[in-house]
Amino acid sequence: MGRKILLLLIILTSFIISSCSENKNNNSFIGITVYRTDDPFANSLKSNIEKFISGRAKYIVNDSQNNQTTQNSQVDNYISKGSKVLVINLVDTQAAQDIVDKAKKSDIPIILFNKAPDLSVMNSYDKVWYVGTLSEEAVNLQGKIITDSWKSNPSWDKNGDGKIQCVILEGEPGHADTKIRTENLISFIENSGIELEILDKKTAMWNRDRAKTIVDSWMSNHNNEDSDTKIEYIFSNNDEMALGALKSVQGFGYNKGESDKFIPIVGIDAIDETIKEIEKGNIVGTVLNDSVSQAKAVSDLALNLFKGETSNPILGTAWTLDNTKSVRVHYKPITIELPDTVNK
Ligand code: BGC
Ligand code: CA
Repeated sequence: MGRKILLLLIILTSFIISSCSENKNNNSFIGITVYRTDDPFANSLKSNIEKFISGRAKYIVNDSQNNQTTQNSQVDNYISKGSKVLVINLVDTQAAQDIVDKAKKSDIPIILFNKAPDLSVMNSYDKVWYVGTLSEEAVNLQGKIITDSWKSNPSWDKNGDGKIQCVILEGEPGHADTKIRTENLISFIENSGIELEILDKKTAMWNRDRAKTIVDSWMSNHNNEDSDTKIEYIFSNNDEMALGALKSVQGFGYNKGESDKFIPIVGIDAIDETIKEIEKGNIVGTVLNDSVSQAKAVSDLALNLFKGETSNPILGTAWTLDNTKSVRVHYKPITIELPDTVNK
């Protein structure tokens, strides 16, 4: 009798063990998080990643709703459910090390995308990769749109002092794109021989409505009859904020097509709405931040890692890794009125 029970127990235990490990394999998946889906650029990355992965691997995707604590528990949950690859758009780049440590502890490969981590994080684990862009490239292209358009439109110098009185809408603090897109842009323009007077710069957190509120107050302070330092150019770290700026200046009678009152605005991303405004002549230009290619790179690497290709995740793809284990997708300038040379 005792032997029978023992035998039954052994059979039962081995059944449970085998079905557990089978479960883990069958359910293995790619665990994806996006820092917030109400950011149109991040949402475009998300939907393109889903498009490229769908039908080729199981995946789970979560919106971290701009909350790092939420994202941490999403990652913990992926790990405990047996995720084979982690694909993470950080909420806060300062949390990169914690997230990578979690992956490392469980020996799971991880791809970070869109929010560039510090190099020390990339060096802390052999199975972490990054997919993004080189922010400097966006600056050079946006800078050229600004300097060329300024030179070919002398009437934009409202007070005729030869300098650009500008304001700058900045993205989220701590984001590599914000820092570089602001600081390097200022030096790019100054190095081109154009003097800048920065009337103000503020973060609108990549967000359209916040940008509108900020520009509303700038416009009331500067672009009135009494002020001799009128805003002559609005530089925006991204398109969402450029669109908020457009809405604001339109409220003050500028950039409406039919009126001759105009304040040049320039963005980065090339989202559809901005392209339409460029076509109408209401926004001067933008720079294509290619979310489709970035999503394709993320997906190609993730699918390779999913297959176990952890020693060479770019195998069989068109991507290359730089010396920081990062794929960098190129930016492209988008304007309509500028001379041909700008687009080359
Ligand atoms: C984009 C922004 C976006 C941000 C999110 C940047 O690369 O230009 O539009 O809000 O990424 O992290
Ligand atoms: Ca001026």
